[in-house]
Amino acid sequence: VTVAAIVPAAGRGERLGPGQPKALREIGGMPMLVHAVRSLSRARLVEQVVVAAPPDGVSQVRALLLSYDVGAEVTVVAGGAERQHSVALALAALPAEVDVVLVHDAARPLAPSELADAVAAAVIAGHPAVVPGLPIADTVKRVAADAVADRPDAGEPVLATVDRHDLRSIQTPQGFARAVLAAAHEHATEVATDDAGLVERLGVPVVVVQGSPEAFKITRPLDLLLAEAVLAQRRVHGAL
Ligand code: C5P
Repeated sequence: VTVAAIVPAAGRGERLGPGQPKALREIGGMPMLVHAVRSLSRARLVEQVVVAAPPDGVSQVRALLLSYDVGAEVTVVAGGAERQHSVALALAALPAEVDVVLVHDAARPLAPSELADAVAAAVIAGHPAVVPGLPIADTVKRVAADAVADRPDAGEPVLATVDRHDLRSIQTPQGFARAVLAAAHEHATEVATDDAGLVERLGVPVVVVQGSPEAFKITRPLDLLLAEAVLAQRRVHGAL
């Protein structure tokens, strides 16, 4: 079995504030993308990595990854306007021998290598689609968001409290049999927020495995502080 990882890294990351593309922002003095690629290439089962870079930043990203010792064989392609297009473009660049594909956000730079291995192992064991997930800590309520969308100061009326015992917050890396992921992207008519969402539309079963608290997504400025704290703790424990 040959396992490759795709890293969509072409987003601007506007919720993080102005600046360079999110994947190139540094945490612990190293770009998030480098953290993400390094962790994947340290995974025992991952043999190659394809990065989807911002279309105007392909050579910059290539040079960046060369300047760090990221381990595995890395290819950089131009990403697209939506995350889903970036994944599809990277998928098209995979060599024929790849039969298992992990898709992992550059925006989750601290996801441990062990998580990539666990997801890949579950695919190799026969699951066509595997996603890491965690239970939800907060109480979740459904609100009439659309009813007050044009009145930012109005409170949002609560419609219901959702039973959270069977809800999971889904992370990456997500793992797929290559043929399943390729078919899901080929048949995609609408944009999904993750790759498994496209696979679900095909009617192919998707399973959730235990995620990792360190696989959190860096979206807002507070997430950068948390990432710095995780790296500081890893340094103390000699894990860097
Ligand atoms: O913006 P968000 O955090 O949801 O992005 C998730 C991942 O998808 C990030 O790693 C981002 O760089 C990537 N992305 C992409 N191409 C886009 C938009 C987002 O590769 N057009």
